[in-house]
Amino acid sequence: MPYNPCVSISPTNPATNCISEPNLQDAVTLKTLIRMKRKGEPFACLACYDATTARWLSRGGVHVLLAGDSAAQVVLGHESTVHMPIDFAIQITAALKRGAPRSLIMADMPFMSYHTSVESAMINASRFMIEGNADVVKLETDETFAPLVDRLTRAGVPVCAHIGCKPQTSSVTGGPVAAGRTADGLEQVVRDAVALEQAGAVILLLEAVPAEVTKAVMNQVKVPVIGIGAGTSCDGQILVVNDLLGMTDVPPRFAEPVDIFGQRIQEAGQLWVDRVRMGTIGGQAYSMRAGEKEKLNQKTKGSINNSDPLHS
Ligand code: KIV
Repeated sequence: MPYNPCVSISPTNPATNCISEPNLQDAVTLKTLIRMKRKGEPFACLACYDATTARWLSRGGVHVLLAGDSAAQVVLGHESTVHMPIDFAIQITAALKRGAPRSLIMADMPFMSYHTSVESAMINASRFMIEGNADVVKLETDETFAPLVDRLTRAGVPVCAHIGCKPQTSSVTGGPVAAGRTADGLEQVVRDAVALEQAGAVILLLEAVPAEVTKAVMNQVKVPVIGIGAGTSCDGQILVVNDLLGMTDVPPRFAEPVDIFGQRIQEAGQLWVDRVRMGTIGGQAYSMRAGEKEKLNQKTKGSINNSDPLHS
């Protein structure tokens, strides 16, 4: 069966027979997320890395797009997010904004871009806002980051505080592990959440924690809480788009793929190889303008080989 990119995606738009046209009527802002939280309407977030994917996801109605530092693994092929280059992070943030101007665009500040001093963190955050056109910057934090979050907030930089499992630091200590699995651990995550909200964080992102931790955090804070592997009670849910599409060889346990895109890409690759081998590719090439072939024949006195596909 020929590959049809729209085959498993619904709802379809009868006019285009493809995925629905943008259903984000208005640009998503922090106010939108707060309103949705109040109404108990969960919002959808995805980490992605390029304008085209962002455009399609936004057309699908995805409210928040994160230019995640997971790009270091997914796009650049590194072992961990520690290797995310800041210039690349800024560029992909800007690409998401260009591709999906109606989604809320969150920029992931890379490892060590907000750790050496408050001043350098401020300068780097301003690059994400000014060059990257980010709506919000995300930092992997605990309560000790409250003074930085406070400074950024007072300077007008909206901050999402990523708490719970923090891949940037946990990858240095042997890979991401769930947080808050003990009574002390739960209390620590709640303390982090409260301190960071008090410092001005406008969104919390809670990664890889038991549902009890999420509930305890949700009881203590007012800002929208995005979850990833944090149970169903969060205000929003996020995943890496490659995990969603089924392109990751060893996905995290919380990944819930909706497709098997990796396999489809492989099949498309195989199909292309077969077609190239069959010698049928390239047949729709350009033709010379009327009369030009005759001119050429006259010039070369007919010495051009007419069986050459470029000249036929
Ligand atoms: O970089 C990333 O993809 C993340 C996840 C929380 C989605 O930070």
